[in-house]
Amino acid sequence: MGRFPENFLWGGAIAANQAEGGFYEGGKGLASSDVQTAGTVTEPRYTTYIDKDGNPGAIKGGFFAKLPEGAHHAVIDGYNYPYHEAIDFYHRYKEDIALFAEMGFKIFRLSIAWTRIYPKGIEETPNQAGLDFYHRVFAELHKYGIEPLVTIYHYDLPLYLDENYGGWKNRFLIECYDKYTDTLFREFKGEVKYWLTFNEINSMIMIPMLFPQYPKALIKSDYQALHYEFVASAKAVIRAHEIDPDYVVGCMIGGGPATYPLTCDPKDCRARQEYDQEVYYYTADAMIRGEYPYFAGRIWKKYGIELDITDEDRRIMKEGKVDILTFSCYGSSCVTTHEVKETAGGNLNMGPKNPYIEYTDWGWSLDGETLKYALNEYYERYGIPMMVVENGIGYNDILEEDGTCHDPYRIDYTRASVNSMADAIADGVDLIGYTSWGCIDLVSASTGEMKKRYGFIYVDKNNDGSGTLKRYRKDSFYWYKKVIESNGEIVD
Ligand code: BG6
Repeated sequence: MGRFPENFLWGGAIAANQAEGGFYEGGKGLASSDVQTAGTVTEPRYTTYIDKDGNPGAIKGGFFAKLPEGAHHAVIDGYNYPYHEAIDFYHRYKEDIALFAEMGFKIFRLSIAWTRIYPKGIEETPNQAGLDFYHRVFAELHKYGIEPLVTIYHYDLPLYLDENYGGWKNRFLIECYDKYTDTLFREFKGEVKYWLTFNEINSMIMIPMLFPQYPKALIKSDYQALHYEFVASAKAVIRAHEIDPDYVVGCMIGGGPATYPLTCDPKDCRARQEYDQEVYYYTADAMIRGEYPYFAGRIWKKYGIELDITDEDRRIMKEGKVDILTFSCYGSSCVTTHEVKETAGGNLNMGPKNPYIEYTDWGWSLDGETLKYALNEYYERYGIPMMVVENGIGYNDILEEDGTCHDPYRIDYTRASVNSMADAIADGVDLIGYTSWGCIDLVSASTGEMKKRYGFIYVDKNNDGSGTLKRYRKDSFYWYKKVIESNGEIVD
């Protein structure tokens, strides 16, 4: 065998809300992400609403913005909503999939927009036009022998469920998700094999670790919401296996445990251990081992949490263990109990800067050990097949007048990731796939801008919404094609 197993699943990943557009087409309902405006690295995103007296307004913040009393979310004329058109994958999926096929993709990770299937989340019957759209997408992928990897829910809750039930803070959402997943598993049997229940399911409980000023009262309900998601996910795993025993269902954890103590002070080492337990293993244990870990009580005590958990919840979690572990991982992090002089940026990797590694202009760590380290940590603990389903580097790429785009930093970053995965496989880790994040430029989830590009394919669209939407192959496109062709042997 070479550095990678013969059937290694090379590919790329996108999410519905960040790529599809067509936000009012095919009977789609409004998602919570549809009322978020565009921002930039320095300008925050806003969430728009109508207040109790009928006046339009906008409040700073994306996912976590709390509206004034009596207000309801609304799309308001005059604001720039980047997800409404996104990169128009809804209409251009054929062209995009042809480009993925040209790179040699074996797998393509996409999410289904819940609001295309159940526009409000509570209807009795699904929306046929929404189902038909994904049938067409899957058919197009299979035409090229590309396996779909479907995220069932990727940060785009039906707005109706948010406004009327308080989102995942309400146990009722388990029922809504159950109906939604039952529909998907029956409808797409034979078309999809790999499913991921929730994107970065642990992201909400990472917040208190990353932002210590986050209100404690909110942390309690976040843990409760996460518990309902665990139960919903486990129910989906059980149902998937009943409907098709060949279905492979995974968890998707936000980040990998590539966490280092900043110093060898024992307090830093212990802080690192607690960080990984709280941020990664609390969640991974619940979904892979089917029960909360022994240290869960410590975390609940720390935040004053009294979890609403029933015996039936425990039984479902135990029965609905996932088949594979997938995770996103953009870089490594450091943890310290000492004063922090300089902090890093990067997705879910804020924290003290590591003096031994380099950082990009945006503060992202460039650490070739990251994936090797995280993969070994996870595999040692769980020993089940894994996929890295998000990894990549956001950059303000420049499109040249002749239609070329030179992105050597992306090639360097991805080369380091490929080598790091090869090392983990050599260690004995059962890694079955890799989907690079934003394989085609799309709207950034955190900033809502286009300028933060991750793709091997450049999309001509600007932060203000202008642009032709034309696609261009970047230098990294040709490089990744060679990597896939050689099954990871050629990375120069
Ligand atoms: C992950 C999310 O956290 O990071 C994606 O699952 C997101 O939805 C990706 O796009 C990159 O983050 P950003 O904010 O640069 O788009």
